[in-house]
Amino acid sequence: MIKIDNVVKNYANGETEVKALRGVSLNIDRGEFTSIAGPSGSGKTTLLNLIGCIDKLDQGEITIKSETVSSMNKNEKTKFRRKNLGFVFQTYNLIPVLSAYENVAFVLSLLDLSEDEVRERTMTILKEVGLAGMENRKPSKLSGGQQQRVAIARALVKNPEIVLADEPTANLDSGTGEEILKLMREMNEKHGTTFIFSTHDPMVMDYAGRVVMLHDGQIKSDERK
Ligand SMILES: Nc1ncnc2c1ncn2[C@@H]1O[C@H](COP(=O)(O)OP(=O)(O)O)[C@@H](O)[C@H]1O
Ligand SMILES: [Mg+2]
Repeated sequence: MIKIDNVVKNYANGETEVKALRGVSLNIDRGEFTSIAGPSGSGKTTLLNLIGCIDKLDQGEITIKSETVSSMNKNEKTKFRRKNLGFVFQTYNLIPVLSAYENVAFVLSLLDLSEDEVRERTMTILKEVGLAGMENRKPSKLSGGQQQRVAIARALVKNPEIVLADEPTANLDSGTGEEILKLMREMNEKHGTTFIFSTHDPMVMDYAGRVVMLHDGQIKSDERK
């Protein structure tokens, strides 16, 4: 479903150029649960941002669901992203003044749904991620793990085909990180959502169905379990 073909990405860094991705090729099937692993600076975030249509590549091509996203303009990318992609971040990125419920429901406000439907979908997904009863809490009244659960609910509530998660467990203790991974895996199996998440944590890689190892902007290994 995702075809990444010989992708090169450079960043201008003052006088010098940083070669963040040096010819990465990778195909990801529908429903896969893939970890992009590798040390800090290996290009994980760069690759996720390119798949996520939030950055521009220098060479190569990325196709998602038969659409060449790498040649879309900004507007087309935004539209594609809204329709097909969900995002989870290391720092949760919740809106602090909104409750858990509002953080998730907000995503649906751009769609043409009835109030009842918004409520139904939001409550269902919050329950699925284990937050029943906590809908009205602001992020500051939730633990890190609970905030990440809200973020996962927010990513899934639109039923995207693909969820991209950049180091989703990096700010969590290992036990909580493991719970978040289990939850993502459960959602992957239940909804058939394709998950791609980055990590430098070996525990997290254990949960992946496939581990793509990056090193200095190149794929070093690619193993399916
Ligand atoms: N906006 C940027 N400007 C300049 N260099 C960048 C930028 N973003 C990332 N880099 C560089 O690109 C390389 C890959 O970074 P990144 O994709 O963030 O790796 P990772 O997520 O694996 O830590 C690193 O050398 C990093 O310093
Ligand atoms: Mg990163």
